[in-house]
Parts: sequence; C-alpha cells; structure tokens
Amino acid sequence: MRPVALITTKPGFEPELKKEIESLKIKKKVVWTPFRGLLKVLSYDPNKFLREVEYNKEELKFLFRVIPLEKECETNIESIKRAVFSLIEKKKDKIIGKSFVVRCNRRGSHSFKSEDIEREIGKYILDKFNNLNLKVNLKNWDFKVNIEILQDESYVSVFTESFKDISIHKNIQNLEKLKKYEARPLNRSERKMQELIEKFPELFIDLNCVVDIGASPGGWAKLLSKLAKKVYAIDTGELKVKNDNIIHIKKRAESVNFKEDINEDIDLITNDTNLYPIESILLTLRFVNYLKSGGYIIHTVKAEDYSKKKSSLSEILEILNRRSDIHIYKIINLKANTKNELTLILKKV
Ligand SMILES: C[S@@+](CC[C@H](N)C(=O)[O-])C[C@H]1O[C@@H](n2cnc3c(N)ncnc32)[C@H](O)[C@@H]1O
Repeated sequence: MRPVALITTKPGFEPELKKEIESLKIKKKVVWTPFRGLLKVLSYDPNKFLREVEYNKEELKFLFRVIPLEKECETNIESIKRAVFSLIEKKKDKIIGKSFVVRCNRRGSHSFKSEDIEREIGKYILDKFNNLNLKVNLKNWDFKVNIEILQDESYVSVFTESFKDISIHKNIQNLEKLKKYEARPLNRSERKMQELIEKFPELFIDLNCVVDIGASPGGWAKLLSKLAKKVYAIDTGELKVKNDNIIHIKKRAESVNFKEDINEDIDLITNDTNLYPIESILLTLRFVNYLKSGGYIIHTVKAEDYSKKKSSLSEILEILNRRSDIHIYKIINLKANTKNELTLILKKV
C-alpha cells in the first residue's frame, strides 16, 4: 500500500475521523500525522479511494477534505521537480495547450515558503514542457499541480475536473458548532508538548514506542498517544487520561526494569519530572541505551530558581558532552515553560 490521500477534520476530532474512514469497505490503512486535524490514508489507488468517499459521503460526519495523492517524494526542490516531471510526462497527451496553476500547502518548518515552491515549479513546468504550449492561469485553470508538504515528505498530484480534492461543506459547518467538545489542555505541561509538536513535527514521525518519564497527570501522554503506537507512561502518580495504547508503569523511573517493564526499542524518550536538573538528566540517560539511533529525547530542565538556570544548563551540557552517542539538537525556551525551565531536544547518533 502507498499514500493515496490526506484527509482533514477539525483538530481534536482525528480519532472520530480515523474510525469512520476505517469503516469504508476498501482495503486501506489510516495513519496519524504529526499535524493537527490531518491524517493519511494508505491504499492502492487514489481514484478508487475518492470514489469510495463519494459513494459514502452522506454517512461521513467528520471528514472535511480529501486530498488525493499521486506521487511521493522527499521535501527538496529537485525531488519535487522529478515527481512533477514524471506526472506531467504521463499525462502530456491530455494537457496540450491547457492552462494550469501550481499550489503548495506546506506543513512543518522549512527555510522556504509555499509561494517559493509554487513559483519555481510553475517556471520549471513552462521551461521543461515548452513544446506543450501550456499557460499559467491562477483562476480558470484546466489542471492544477498540487503539492502537499508534510515536513520531510512531499506529495505531488495533478488535479483535473475528474480527479481532484473533495470538500464536504456541511461537515465543516456542523463541526464548527461543536466547540465545546474540543479537548482542553489538562495542564500547562500539555501546552509545552503541543508547542513542541507544532514547532518540531520531525520529532514525532513514525513513532512506535515512546517512553514518557514523569508522566502524571498525563498531558504529554495524552498527546503522544495520538501520534505513537504505544506510550509507556512512568510515574507513581495517577494518570487522568486513559487510552488503549498508554501503558502506565506505576513506579519511579529509577525502579523500572527495562527488560521486564518495556523490552522494546524506543523511538522517543520524554522527561518532564520535577526533579533536580542533574537527577533528572541521569534518569533520562538510564533509557538512552534502548533508544533507536536517530531517535529523539525531549527533556525539561527545571532549575531550582531563575538564578540557577544557566549553571544548571552548563552542568547538564557537561554530562551530555561526555556522551558521544548524544547530539544536542535544540535548546529552547517554550512559551509554556516557566521562567525557571528550558527544554532540551537531543538526538541519538
Ligand atoms: C510536572 S509533572 C509531569 C507532567 C506531565 N508531563 C504531564 O504532561 O501531565 C512531574 C511528574 O514527575 C513525576 N516524578 C518525579 N520524580 C519521578 C521519578 N523519579 N520517576 C518517575 N516520575 C517522577 C512526579 O510524580 C510528577 O507527576
């Protein structure tokens, strides 16, 4: 199976959308993305998936939009050009003399804007296919080259009258009224994680196993459980969130026996414990041997008070610099951090 469509809903309603799309009678898999309100469908043929959605449109309540996907490539201009080239080459007999537009929807953090891609790809098409006598028309186009960027992955499609995105306006209007059902953050911690998900989506791609140290009451575990297959939430305190894929290890992290309690490779370690900075980083390091290479660590440094913030960070960096397997990816003051806190993002080499 390969990606055949992106589907959107109102943020907060992703699980409902996943369930209703999973009930369609077509072979497919619906997977999470790190972006709010956006899921990806894997199947065999984007056309068949579109037809299935059209056929069942009346029963679907949470689906806002379906964006069919034809070609997957990496997020860099050369790969996108190659994908555009192969799609247009395939359809060239049908598009001679036609007008077109290029549209790019970018999600994630990049050094370029969507408009830069639109401009460059538009020019590329005119140059490369000048024998097809194509014209740009931003409003009345015959075909649209649609580029969806999800951090490092990009998807290119050529939309025409018979193959294009579907929007279900009545669902958009109905769900707009359902504001009260939108999940509210459990605590300030949850806002830290939300900010990380928005600013660094690359940390949350293809997560199988996450270990969340100091997880109670569960704000981080709640968000992580939407993005990962499994979250081991370590804390002696209670969790206020329940999800089939959250496994509560009700122990202090020092007492966790990896082989007995977890025993699988970790994709992401998070630690938000309210311990002294050195104690806390040593706890995180207890789990690093089981982290996959390329896996990330999100660690909150909580200095005793503001005056000790700098020295706490230096002590931690001294410990980390002794480890050749850990690379410091980012040190950041999140909006939701207190003034005594900062957040470290580390990467296992
Ligand atoms: C600020 S709270 C974490 C909030 C959590 N990230 C969330 O989103 O709800 C800090 C937690 O660290 C836990 N903690 C402190 N020391 C710990 C240890 N040694 N092992 C595991 N958890 C610990 C505390 O029980 C407390 O629940």
